Amino acid sequence: MRIIAFYSPKGGVGKTAAAVNTAYLASRDNLRTLLWDLDPQGASSFYLAGAEPVKGRKLSKLLEGKSPIARFIHEDVYPNLDFIPAHSSFRNFDIKLEQEHGGSALKDLLAPLSEDTSLVILDCPPTLSRLTEQVLDVADMVYVPVVPTWLSLNSWDQLKQFVKDKKLGVKKLRPFFSMVDRRKNLHRDVLARDAEKLGLPALAAVPYASAVERMGEEGQPLEVLAPGSLAAGEFRKLWSGIKTDLWSR
Ligand SMILES: Nc1ncnc2c1ncn2[C@@H]1O[C@H](COP(=O)(O)OP(=O)(O)OP(=O)(O)O)[C@@H](O)[C@H]1O
Ligand SMILES: [Mg+2]
Repeated sequence: MRIIAFYSPKGGVGKTAAAVNTAYLASRDNLRTLLWDLDPQGASSFYLAGAEPVKGRKLSKLLEGKSPIARFIHEDVYPNLDFIPAHSSFRNFDIKLEQEHGGSALKDLLAPLSEDTSLVILDCPPTLSRLTEQVLDVADMVYVPVVPTWLSLNSWDQLKQFVKDKKLGVKKLRPFFSMVDRRKNLHRDVLARDAEKLGLPALAAVPYASAVERMGEEGQPLEVLAPGSLAAGEFRKLWSGIKTDLWSR
């Protein structure tokens, strides 16, 4: 079982869109995939289940060991794609993690899944908390959407420094560009010099596209909604890079 996360300390940069699209593409590659929406706002549910978002369950029973993680999983939202929806109680995840398990809670929670699941995808809230630290620790790779602006490049540098300081493994951080607008000089400039600006090449450059916005309204991954779009092509490129990271190196 491999574990990946989509994370950025910046809000609204395309983490959830990428997590959902990657989860769908992985499931279509015949990988038993589990997407876990760790954000109490629960955006993943809307991208996956449209008008009738799947309801999450309160977290305390899971953390207290009263319910196994399997009971929180909605199986086969799409074939091969399982889903743990968010719940507003995820707001307290941090405090609970400390109280119930100490340092390795998330790892312990995920362990029972390893027999049936090939890929776990964690969709993270835009916070830098104890939960995030555990996510950064437990994940094999962490994919970071970066909008090609100075502020976003700055938070990418800050994230690298944080991961270095905490010794969580800076090599597991992998950037990709998100919400790219090629009409803007700055975006084009940053894209052309990605390795210089980011310290390593970006895996993909997802354009700012109305098709991606529509994912929330229609409740479908982009590969279902608009497979011919440029953005869908970039999400496929991202997934191809992730596969290489996880299985071919
Ligand atoms: N490539 C894109 N083009 C256009 N709109 C996008 C794109 N990616 C994301 N969006 C839109 O931007 C908003 C934020 O996207 P998303 O929820 O994926 O970001 P996020 O980083 O997960 O946000 P949060 O930090 O709140 O969890 C959504 O309304 C989404 O539809
Ligand atoms: Mg999100």
